[in-house]
Amino acid sequence: MSTVSEVKAKAGLEDVVAGESAICYIDGERGVLSYCGHDIHDLADMDRGVSFEETCFLLWHRRLPNRGELGDLQTQLAAARVLPEPILRAMRSLPPAGGMDALRTLTSLLGHVDADAAVKTPAADYRKAVRLTGQVGSLVATWGRMAEGGAAIDPDPSLGHAANFLYMLTGTRPSALSARAFDVSLVLHADHELNASTFVARVAAATLTDLHSAVVGAIGALKGPLHGGANAAVMKMLIEIGQDAGLERVEEFVRAKLARKEKISGFGHRVYRTEDPRATHLRRFSQSIGEKTGQPQWFAMSQRIEQLVKSEKGLNANVDFYSASMFHALGIPLGLYTPIFAVSRIAGWTAHVLEQYANNRLIRPRTDYVGPTYPQPVLPIDQR
Ligand SMILES: CC(C)(COP(=O)(O)OP(=O)(O)OC[C@H]1O[C@@H](n2cnc3c(N)ncnc32)[C@H](O)[C@@H]1OP(=O)(O)O)[C@@H](O)C(=O)NCCC(=O)NCCS
Repeated sequence: MSTVSEVKAKAGLEDVVAGESAICYIDGERGVLSYCGHDIHDLADMDRGVSFEETCFLLWHRRLPNRGELGDLQTQLAAARVLPEPILRAMRSLPPAGGMDALRTLTSLLGHVDADAAVKTPAADYRKAVRLTGQVGSLVATWGRMAEGGAAIDPDPSLGHAANFLYMLTGTRPSALSARAFDVSLVLHADHELNASTFVARVAAATLTDLHSAVVGAIGALKGPLHGGANAAVMKMLIEIGQDAGLERVEEFVRAKLARKEKISGFGHRVYRTEDPRATHLRRFSQSIGEKTGQPQWFAMSQRIEQLVKSEKGLNANVDFYSASMFHALGIPLGLYTPIFAVSRIAGWTAHVLEQYANNRLIRPRTDYVGPTYPQPVLPIDQR
């Protein structure tokens, strides 16, 4: 039967250009990732790169901030890191849940208590984007702390976003290396063009629903093991292999998995045909922080897996592969790996939602109908 079939997309909308954006550019053939024209390798440079806060400003305003603008944003984010009391109360009363489920539910609640909940103007939406970015970091850190039986820690406004997150999670102010490594990992995860969760956010925003609703949808998509859930799956795989098992066991494990035609989390990408440029940085951190914290085995195992998957399947590591062992070396609990992705990606989601609002048209594609032929008779119930 014919439908609207002038333009038929490949499965998974592969290679479909579904809109315009001035936020993020990817060249999957050359391994280029840039935010508003700035190469990710420059932004993520350990010494000369930018902070997560500067990245947020860049994504929201399409240019890097000057000192005054950065100072203002830092002040706004620091204020937003103090979680509203109803959120802390709700967090304490939630039934046992995974971090992404808690984040989804509590982000929805943040929408109820937002100072601009009833206001929908460009200025109010921008304030919501800033507030939510500050709040999500505190929410995930506090959730992680409470999940381990600890009490919530107040944010320290003198710390940057990354250092404050680690402080609120562990109760200890991080070393300069840990703070900057985590900061760079937030920069690396902040946006990635029309990835699945950002697409969800934009589709929702295109109905002109509120910013919190769009972000809640995005969190749901990020949770999936083919998207943000992959970093936790990588660490589970490393733990399953066992840190004392030796590299022969790594090889045996990976070969058996591939023989069963199972996917290895942290490899492959819809867009990149080269190494994921984010993996280049995360690999380095996995190694350096692993060595600094006396647990180099996770990096060694990861490296062996990478060699095998590359030689056996020709697949490259993606953003989630080395972030797993890096987060582990930083002492971050496994249940927080995917929520931490959201701590960073909230900047990209909100930038895309604001961009969608600014030049909106409802996103409403069609399907190619492959069901029973039309028309089918509606038989009386005892004849079916
Ligand atoms: C990222 C991902 C979802 C992209 O999916 P996609 O573009 O739809 O690619 P497909 O799943 O169709 O994979 C294409 C082929 O490569 C294989 N492949 C892709 N990723 C693989 C992986 N991680 N391990 C083993 N094989 C993989 C598929 O089995 C398939 O092989 P086939 O053609 O013989 O059936 C996919 O690579 C994947 O599932 N990776 C693991 C999860 C992950 O790390 N996600 C985070 C992404 S940043």
